[in-house]
Amino acid sequence: MVKKAFVTGITGQDGSYLAELLLAKGYEVHGLIRRASTFNTRRIDHLYEGPQAEDKRLFLHYGDLTDGSRLVTLLASIQPAEVYHLAAQSHVRVSFDEPEYTGDTTGMGTTRLLEAIRMIGLDCRFYQASSSEMFGATPPPQNEETPFYPRSPYGAAKLYGYWMTRNYREAYDMFAVNGILFNHESPRRGETFVTRKISRAVARIKLGLDQRLYLGNLNACRDWGYAPEYVEAMWRMLQHDTPADYVVATGTSYSVKDFVTLAFDHVGLDWEQYVDHDARYERPTEVDSLIGDAAKANSELGWKAQVHVPELVRIMVDADLAALTQED
Ligand SMILES: NC(=O)c1ccc[n+]([C@@H]2O[C@H](COP(=O)([O-])OP(=O)(O)OC[C@H]3O[C@@H](n4cnc5c(N)ncnc54)[C@H](OP(=O)(O)O)[C@@H]3O)[C@@H](O)[C@H]2O)c1
Repeated sequence: MVKKAFVTGITGQDGSYLAELLLAKGYEVHGLIRRASTFNTRRIDHLYEGPQAEDKRLFLHYGDLTDGSRLVTLLASIQPAEVYHLAAQSHVRVSFDEPEYTGDTTGMGTTRLLEAIRMIGLDCRFYQASSSEMFGATPPPQNEETPFYPRSPYGAAKLYGYWMTRNYREAYDMFAVNGILFNHESPRRGETFVTRKISRAVARIKLGLDQRLYLGNLNACRDWGYAPEYVEAMWRMLQHDTPADYVVATGTSYSVKDFVTLAFDHVGLDWEQYVDHDARYERPTEVDSLIGDAAKANSELGWKAQVHVPELVRIMVDADLAALTQED
C-alpha cells in the first residue's frame, strides 16, 4: 500500500523540499494550499502534474488553517498515515504588526489540526513545525531541556502550538512530535527573510540592478542551516519508534553582519559600500543569540547538519545570480 502524507504549508520553503523528499520515497503526497487571486505554487510547480495525469502522487487541496471544518473533512477523506504541519504566518517581524492573525494561524491552526485528527479518530503520526524562536531570550546553547522565553507574537504562538502538540501526545496517546528547528535557509527562502534579502540584494547589486541594501539589526546571531537537510530530520522524527521532541540545528553561530560580509565577499564587493541601516526592520523585542545543540537528533535519529553558513551563503548568492541572469 502506498503511504499517504498530508502536508500543510506545502507551497512554502520547507513544504516544497519535504514534498520532493516524500515523493522520492514513494509517498502519495496531499498538500493544503490557500486559494489566492494569484498563483502561489511557484515552489512546487516542478512537481505538479495536471488532474489528467496517470499515476499522480501529488494532490493539492484548497483549505486554510482558520477553517477547522475543512481540515476535518479533508483528513477524513484522505486518511493520511503522516501529517506534517508546516503552515504558519512564519515571519517574526510581521508578527508584531499582525499579532492576532499570527495567533490565529500559527497558534490556533495547530489546535484545529490536532483536534481534527482526534475528532475523526485518525491513526496517524503528527509533526509540528516548532521553532527556536520559542527560546527567545534564554541564552545559548539551547536544547530540548532549555526553558522557553519567546520574544515575539510569532514565538509565543509557536510555543502554544508546541504545548498543544505535547498535550495531545500525553492526553490522547497520539504520535505527535515537535521539531524545534533553528533557522534554515535556501534559494527558496521567502524574499523578505534576512538571509534571502541579503543574497538577492548582493546578486542585484553585482549585476548593477540595485545600489543599496537596507537592514535592521546586524548584531543578531543565528544558527543557520540548509533547509533540504532539515526536512530530512522531520521525516526521521516520524519514522522513529517513539514520539519525542528534537532540536535541529548546526551548533554554529554567525551574526547578520557575518552573513552580509560573506555574501558580498563572494562576489568580490565590500559590504560597507552598499549597506545602510533602517530602523523599520528592527523588532520591538529582539532575540540576540540562538545556537542549537542537536545532540539528541544526532544520537537518536542519526541526523547531523552538513552545510554550514559559508557554503550556505555561496549556494544562495549563486542561485540568485543564476536566476537573475536567466531573466535577461
Ligand atoms: N524556515 C525556518 O527557519 C523555520 C525555523 C523554525 C520553524 N519554522 C516553521 O516551519 C514552517 C515552515 O517554514 P517555511 O520557512 O517553509 O515557511 P514559509 O516559506 O513562510 O511557508 C509558510 C507556508 O504556510 C502557508 N500558510 C500561511 N498561512 C496559512 C493559512 N492561514 N492557511 C494555510 N496555509 C497557510 C503558506 O502558504 P502561502 O504560500 O499561500 O503563503 C506557506 O505554504 C513554518 O511553520 C515556520 O514557522 C521555520
